[in-house]
Amino acid sequence: MKDNDYFPKLNCLVSLSNNRLIAVTNEDEFSFDELPITPDEAYHFLNLLDGQTPIGNIIEKSAPAVSSEIAYQLIDSLSQKGLVLKNPPIAFLSGKHAMLEIEDVQNQLMHQLLYKNIFWEKCKDPATVPVNVYVGMAIENYHLLSRGSSFDAHALYYHSFRKARETMNNVFCSENGHFDIILSGLKLLGLEEQSIIKSVPLPETLGLANSLAYWSANDPLFFFSTMEILEGKDNQIDSYVVAMEQSGKINGSFVEMIKSHSLINIKDKHASLGRQIFTEIPAIAVSEVNRMKRQTHLFIEIYNAFYQSIWDHYSQTNNLLRIA
Ligand SMILES: [Fe+2]
Ligand SMILES: [Fe+2]
Repeated sequence: MKDNDYFPKLNCLVSLSNNRLIAVTNEDEFSFDELPITPDEAYHFLNLLDGQTPIGNIIEKSAPAVSSEIAYQLIDSLSQKGLVLKNPPIAFLSGKHAMLEIEDVQNQLMHQLLYKNIFWEKCKDPATVPVNVYVGMAIENYHLLSRGSSFDAHALYYHSFRKARETMNNVFCSENGHFDIILSGLKLLGLEEQSIIKSVPLPETLGLANSLAYWSANDPLFFFSTMEILEGKDNQIDSYVVAMEQSGKINGSFVEMIKSHSLINIKDKHASLGRQIFTEIPAIAVSEVNRMKRQTHLFIEIYNAFYQSIWDHYSQTNNLLRIA
């Protein structure tokens, strides 16, 4: 920690008695026999720890009697007894403010990377998208959603805030089984249910599912921040569904089935899930928000790879289902 970021505070009354340093708290009294400096020097140094002056300034004022090494040694040993509060100032943001900051990074990266991805670029001209890419998107979406419990479930135990946990539990209940909607759609195209279930996802799909499962278990706050992206950022019908409709190439019942999933997200406001959960969290350390903003780069790259691989694979193959 830098000296200027550190504001220790004396948490007792110190006095000198018979050339001995005495510290008194509400509960106890301490006397110090061995000090690296004279009791008088320690007394004056400790009385400068007001919780508002950076330690660097205090050391400057106390020099040459108190070196930096001695200052930290004293603070460390007194803080172990609760006689000094290390009191590093921590800056916080409200949960909602934190989510807005993370959204700024998400939006920027989506425009820089994801929306320039060939899959989404081609969806702007729906007739140019091969049928297998449209179907492949549903297959990979099925694989992702069918693993949904592996990432949603860990975050159910988020213990820090009850209301955030309740919201996550509601999400889990409403999301559970959505892969069935996609499965029913794929069956309308003549694909066999068991063949779909036994098929193998693209590595990038599994990579996305595994990353989400890891974050959900180890970094639930960050996992919550990814949910808005996963649930369709703009709270409108998925551009992929619109492209399929406009292409005129795809079985209408299949499109309707896929669209019905998109409509659930809109009806239940899943695109604002991150905000709904973060709103319940009163304060998040700025350092933590900054960490999540940095990690958002990794998430968007993994998410981008998911769409890129769908285009790369399904635009080149006639075999829709990858068999192990
Ligand atoms: Fe869903
Ligand atoms: Fe959803």
